[in-house]
Amino acid sequence: MCRVCGGPVRQFFDFGRQPLSDAFVDPDRVDEEYFYRLAVGLCESCGMTQLLDEVPRDRMFHEAYPYHSSGSAHMRRHFEQTAGRLSRAHLRGDDPFVVEIGCNDGVMLRALAKEGIRHLGVEPSGGVAELARQQGVRVRNTFFEEGTAAEIRAADGPADLVYSANTICHIPYLDSVFRGLDTLLAPHGVFVFEDPYLGDILERTTFDQIYDEHFYFFTLTSVRTAAARYGFEVVDVERLPVHGGELRYTLRRAGRGAPSPAVAELAAEEERRGLCRPEVFEGFAAGIERIRTDLTDLLRGLRADGKRVVGYGATAKSATVTNYCGIGPELIEWVCDATPAKHGRLTPGTHIPVRPTEALTEPYPDYAVLFAWNHAEEIMAKERLFRESGGRWIVYAPEVRVI
Ligand code: SAM
Ligand code: TMP
Ligand code: ZN
Repeated sequence: MCRVCGGPVRQFFDFGRQPLSDAFVDPDRVDEEYFYRLAVGLCESCGMTQLLDEVPRDRMFHEAYPYHSSGSAHMRRHFEQTAGRLSRAHLRGDDPFVVEIGCNDGVMLRALAKEGIRHLGVEPSGGVAELARQQGVRVRNTFFEEGTAAEIRAADGPADLVYSANTICHIPYLDSVFRGLDTLLAPHGVFVFEDPYLGDILERTTFDQIYDEHFYFFTLTSVRTAAARYGFEVVDVERLPVHGGELRYTLRRAGRGAPSPAVAELAAEEERRGLCRPEVFEGFAAGIERIRTDLTDLLRGLRADGKRVVGYGATAKSATVTNYCGIGPELIEWVCDATPAKHGRLTPGTHIPVRPTEALTEPYPDYAVLFAWNHAEEIMAKERLFRESGGRWIVYAPEVRVI
């Protein structure tokens, strides 16, 4: 049943039993992994693409949540620019107040904090919330929902802006979030959020965007329909070239400002592309199966030829790829990643050792599967010598290629 409207959800892909994507395993505790069924479908009534099963939120977002937003220089720049733009567009009044849902390690809010803007981050994962505090960011270590919004409103007054990046799609209980926004936002208040765009996922067959934490896969059309249920309206939309393609939505309470032309333009494009037509999802499903066959054939062939193959980026996305394709340490020796909290651990479900990125040079392997493909430019620039010493990158979306 649809988590937004209660309508019937038509499943279009079942990845089967999957581990939590960010639960890197202590080698002494491999027996304690939690598994769930990862299946995804489209609501036939409201057009919202969503997971069919929900993982309890405390299993994913807790003290040891390992994803640190500041780990990428490219994303640090993106959020610095975002802070500047939000401040110019929405925080120009007298003593403005901004709330961020899912501020993580403070990558965006620290810039506004430095400007002396009244702010609050809401972040349930204790470890990253503490990192944000160390950056001078005020944080409430809890989940954003209706009750939290009421508490913030009582303590700090109404918000001029609520912002969120890569978090709203993680929250199944959208009804509670929107009721909270209605409580927290000032009458003229604005809600801006950005998340991976289903249009880009379908176009590039980036099926690895599908994992436990990503509960919804938004389009402008599905967000508009959902927002209307809760008394809100999308007044602007913008494409963002991060994380493989995202949309940034600007919402106000319904009737509080005319939508920009970009909204009607993108809605018409989505209609043309049939982003809620079942055939489009059938094509996507076929693409996923083809990638599994091509990737496992390639890796088995390389290993049979005695080549050394590693992975680059122990991403949440890679949990879907390795578990769905059945890729373990027999095909990928280890995965390197810059996040210290992941080092010495094993990838969820498939138990590939995770090593620091320095391991890449000792000596360079023949091939590296680029799991952190959304940071390709940054990583390939950093690891120029790998390529120059004869190493080759393997990418798998939209198709398996060696580059
Ligand atoms: N905004 C950062 C960025 O774009 O890099 C962090 C994104 S991270 C993928 C998702 C964050 O959302 C995590 O830090 C998680 O703890 C947080 N989160 C999950 N559910 C939440 C909720 N209900 N309210 C606030 N934050 C939440
Ligand atoms: P993401 O795809 O969810 O943003 O995660 C990116 C992962 O890749 C994260 O674990 C950090 C890692 N990473 C590196 O190891 N080196 C890098 O240069 C970058 C940008 C990311
Ligand atoms: Zn629905």
